[in-house]
Amino acid sequence: MKNAGNFIKTGLSLTLFCSVLFIACDRRISTPSSDSPNLNDNYDYLKVQESGKTRNITEFIKDGSRDGLSNKSVQLGRILFYDKKLSINNTISCASCHKQSLAFADNVNFSTGFGNLLTTRNSMSILNPVNNNNMFWDSRASSPLELSLMPVFNHIEMGMENDQMLVTKLSKTSYYPDLFEDAFGDRTITREKISKAVTQFLNCLFSKESKFDQGLQNNFANFTPLELYGKQLFFSDQLKCSECHSGTNFSAPDAPGSPYGGSTFGNDASNPRGTANIGLDVSYKDNGRGNGKFKIPSLRNIELTGPYMHDGRFTTLEQVINHYSEGIQNHPSLDEKFRDGMKAKKLNLSENDKVALIAFLKTLTDKNLITNPKFSDPFKN
Ligand code: HEC
Ligand code: HEC
Repeated sequence: MKNAGNFIKTGLSLTLFCSVLFIACDRRISTPSSDSPNLNDNYDYLKVQESGKTRNITEFIKDGSRDGLSNKSVQLGRILFYDKKLSINNTISCASCHKQSLAFADNVNFSTGFGNLLTTRNSMSILNPVNNNNMFWDSRASSPLELSLMPVFNHIEMGMENDQMLVTKLSKTSYYPDLFEDAFGDRTITREKISKAVTQFLNCLFSKESKFDQGLQNNFANFTPLELYGKQLFFSDQLKCSECHSGTNFSAPDAPGSPYGGSTFGNDASNPRGTANIGLDVSYKDNGRGNGKFKIPSLRNIELTGPYMHDGRFTTLEQVINHYSEGIQNHPSLDEKFRDGMKAKKLNLSENDKVALIAFLKTLTDKNLITNPKFSDPFKN
């Protein structure tokens, strides 16, 4: 959790400032509400589907959250994910901004945190974190374990001031001591265990049952001619979409050897870490990882995760495609794929090409992820 340490340090002054403001407005830190989760759910969280085969999620998990993973610990993680008690005033849970029906994204440019403050970037979908080592719009985290408690202590998102405050609050509930005992063998609640359980749930948000995934198994016999044409465009040398949106998640992995990957992890802003500048602006208000470079996001479930881009500036996929077709700006750090000498290279797509690309993007929607009760809100009984 070294980055969380840095994060807390850098955010400390603002956090204190906002907390003081917040407490000044509302002197009570609300007591936990009495609503409890449904504890009778008995799902097999560890079984996932990939290419028509049932696999065990442990085959994919690379970080420390693999140890001690069980259906009980994932169940605990799911309850924590949906529990508003994780926020300082019991108003916000992870799911307030990461909604199942929207593939764990939000449908507003900026989401509302605990004190009615807005996030500074668009809430992104959470999916297949096990295949993702490049997280947040500026790629500042490299694994779900590293990331999982950051929002809880973030003054805008959930506002908890320190570990002890959260631990004390959860220990006083009627259900958490038992749940921690079931998951980890004893009733003591710690920051590490909270983080681990949340991560274990995140890791089980595995989405590989889209029309595209089915297509991989039947040579795309399930695709319409329009979708096939869109797929051909997406993977073409002319458009180069797949040179950035690549791999199983259609995103850029931070991997040594990948053109967008860095070889080291950490917060070094000079390390591109799976980010690129796609010429959204000539001058950026938010420079992302530096020079207007933002994470190359996953395109899985893209139909459900609008508005799009780090600031949610585009409401529809049509607008996104129009950007690539006609809107690319000549920023000094514009990616070379969108350059023609010193000029910005706009893709100038025909109407039919645009429609086909969008039809292809919609084959990446996984209905199972958004309807499966094992990922649903356990507080809604
Ligand atoms: C108030 C809204 C809000 C809340 C609450 C919130 N998030 Fe987020 N989440 C965001 C935003 C905004 C981003 C993108 C932030 C950025 O890039 O700087 C994000 C990014 C993420 C990502 C990165 C996804 C990726 O692939 O890069 C994960 C994972 C995540 N959040 C998990 C959580 C968890 C777990 C919780 C609860 C402990 C949580 N979030 C609570 C708004 C929220
Ligand atoms: C040079 C790398 C690169 C190429 C090539 C590229 N993209 Fe992107 N794409 C990105 C980055 C980076 C973002 C996020 C930019 C931001 O938010 O500032 C993005 C964002 C998107 C989004 C919105 C995602 C979201 O969650 O908001 C879609 C959709 C998309 N791209 C589709 C495409 C298509 C279709 C093509 C081919 C026509 C393409 N991209 C080519 C890097 C690239």
